[in-house]
Amino acid sequence: MDNQVLQAMPRIGDKAPDFKALTTTGPMTFSEFNKGSWVIMFSHPADFTPVCTTELSAFAMDKKFYQERNTKLIGLSIDSIHSHLAWVNNVREKTDVYMDFPIIADLDMKVAHLYGMLHPGESETAAVRAVFVIDPKGVIRLILYYPLNIGRNMEEIKRILIALQTADEKKVALPVNWKPGDKAIVPPPKTLVEMDERIANTEYEKVDFYLSKKAI
Ligand code: BEZ
Repeated sequence: MDNQVLQAMPRIGDKAPDFKALTTTGPMTFSEFNKGSWVIMFSHPADFTPVCTTELSAFAMDKKFYQERNTKLIGLSIDSIHSHLAWVNNVREKTDVYMDFPIIADLDMKVAHLYGMLHPGESETAAVRAVFVIDPKGVIRLILYYPLNIGRNMEEIKRILIALQTADEKKVALPVNWKPGDKAIVPPPKTLVEMDERIANTEYEKVDFYLSKKAI
């Protein structure tokens, strides 16, 4: 075993680790920020870099989408608050896009370590492109990691949010490439009686008793 510091890697289903941090909208306690809202927390490798600028601008341009879905955005990089402010202002001046969601200045890498955003094989000093979707109860529901040189897919992040909210609300599972308007998976039968009921069911779109779909 080498002598790298082992970092915590939160997993799906874990309570989102709480922390206090300095952000572009002021000091914050994460659990207070999260209370009652969905949160999408994302890290980026560095301010004033091109791929990161496209990504954080895209989040900012989708502000209304996230607001309408009770979802707060929060960014993070291992940069100072002064760097974040200068970058946000520069992007606003150059493109008219205002990245006004909080961005954590994680200079001591405390939050990056807490959330497993540092992947030393990719970079020892910059956070990878992580995305954590956290529900209003503070539970981590989905995690994505992208390398430094590939920008994330904003349409997929929006699809993920809608899918998680729909799955919770309708108590269903959602199939491959699901998008709003598509049918949902009906939970498979768990007993022989339920299996025979499902076999006899004519209401659902059915491949077999264990794979049925219904409109939601
Ligand atoms: C970028 O955002 O453009 C970037 C940042 C770090 C490494 C490579 C690309």
